[in-house]
Amino acid sequence: MQTATTLEMLRTHVGKLRAGGETIGLVPTMGALHEGHLTLVRRAREACDHVVASIFVNPTQFGPNEDLDAYPRQLEQDAAMLEAEGCALLWAPPVEEMYPGGPQNFVTSIRVSGVSEGLCGASRPGHFDGVATVVCKLFNQVLPDTAFFGEKDFQQLAVIRAMARDLDLARPHVRSIIGVPTVREPDGLAMSSRNRYLSDKDRAAAATLPTAMKEAIARIEDGQEVAPTLAALEDALLGAGFSSVDYAVLADAASLAPLDALGERPARLLVAARIGGTRLIDNMAVN
Ligand code: PAF
Repeated sequence: MQTATTLEMLRTHVGKLRAGGETIGLVPTMGALHEGHLTLVRRAREACDHVVASIFVNPTQFGPNEDLDAYPRQLEQDAAMLEAEGCALLWAPPVEEMYPGGPQNFVTSIRVSGVSEGLCGASRPGHFDGVATVVCKLFNQVLPDTAFFGEKDFQQLAVIRAMARDLDLARPHVRSIIGVPTVREPDGLAMSSRNRYLSDKDRAAAATLPTAMKEAIARIEDGQEVAPTLAALEDALLGAGFSSVDYAVLADAASLAPLDALGERPARLLVAARIGGTRLIDNMAVN
């Protein structure tokens, strides 16, 4: 596996990978890799001739009081994991290469209205602008044929799909954006780089999140009213040791508009809740 840390190196390596007309799959990450990321790499390997993974802890998607400095960084370990999965190229730019002059002086920002403001966007203002902007840059830098993102960050995926559609990034450069189902721990907790922040006690209690979500989905699918079911879900989380619930929402799976009842279109249950200072998110399909 090659590693590029400058745009010049990236272009040289990508040019070589493409020399015989081969396709490239991009797996954008912020590092601290786990099985969820490696699943994205495997999907990319199945679909494309070569896989390029990026590792960049993007400052512009962190709020002033968020965990940018504490976010786990383990480049060597991550590189070894990517190499073992057959990744061809690691794009790991330093902050100055991505944001010359510093992120505070970067004047362009992409805002995807409608899907960015609610849910996580409500408690993380500007977060999805930072995500959309850096993903647009990654697409332009790597020019992949296909890009792979986890459904765990369901709102992020919706923002990226809308951005790529509206800015014509979905063709000709990025032919498709693939959402890959969430990878879970044996007790159901969605894999996340932030799970490592949890104490043993909070880690055990965190498994209540997927369990309570599945129970709520069963009730909603059974025809029970949405509002009291979501209230019971919140109570279950608070009773299990979560300190607060940012949201527990039934939403249209495409627009993410909140729903108070199931309709004809696919729906999604999305939850964000805090435990021991860590904010966990999860989402599941409702049929
Ligand atoms: O999901 C992530 O790891 C990040 O938000 C992404 C897509 C790599 C953009 O920084």
